[in-house]
Amino acid sequence: MAGDRGLIVAIDGVVGAGKSTVARGVAAALGYRHLDTGAMYRAVALTAGRQGIGPADSGRLQDLLAAIHIDLEPETEGGRIRVDGQDVSDAIRSPEVSRVVGSYADIPALRRALVQQQQALGHLGGIVAEGRDMTSVVFPCADLKIFMVADLGERALRRYREFAAKGVVITLEQVRADIEQRDDEDARRDYGGQRASPSVELDTTGLNIPGVVERIISLARKGGA
Ligand code: DC
Repeated sequence: MAGDRGLIVAIDGVVGAGKSTVARGVAAALGYRHLDTGAMYRAVALTAGRQGIGPADSGRLQDLLAAIHIDLEPETEGGRIRVDGQDVSDAIRSPEVSRVVGSYADIPALRRALVQQQQALGHLGGIVAEGRDMTSVVFPCADLKIFMVADLGERALRRYREFAAKGVVITLEQVRADIEQRDDEDARRDYGGQRASPSVELDTTGLNIPGVVERIISLARKGGA
């Protein structure tokens, strides 16, 4: 529901469809906050890994979840992500974290904890929340619900270019294989809710990102869908 501070825009979609870039652009254009929920799962996976806590180690994971403080800085202030005060913005994007984060994201207790934090951060509105369960679990009552899809080949190329721009050494084939594996995992995953309707499905294959951002902004300016 729209709060005093604006709409809740929920952006869902497949791996590598461009959710983050689009969400960031929409948030900037509307003057809203951007909630990158994938970054929260990545931050937990990175921290757990660094402390030697595997996804099956539920006791120690519970302790970690109770103690961890994830701080998502607003984009206008730099958009850095900190865990207990330490900047992990780059570390959470590594291919290693990308490979293991799904195993942590499968843990129901972990999901419950993060979903609660996300709802607390967004329920007043004025937010573009992005991630795999935004339209179904976290904000099923969002004012605007978008589901983004794109061809595998194009998603792999976009991700590969992002890695290359950051100097990460990885082949296009490896990026493609990682995305395929994550698609498989996602298809089997139960996010704890049904895909909500109505939501607008946007196929971004062959579209440029500014075009997709424009489309969502115009839907938001009409008050949602
Ligand atoms: O969007 P991303 O690649 O940064 O997401 C990282 C991981 O977290 C990926 O395995 C999907 C998972 N995720 C999730 O389960 N629920 C969310 N709301 C966001 C991300």
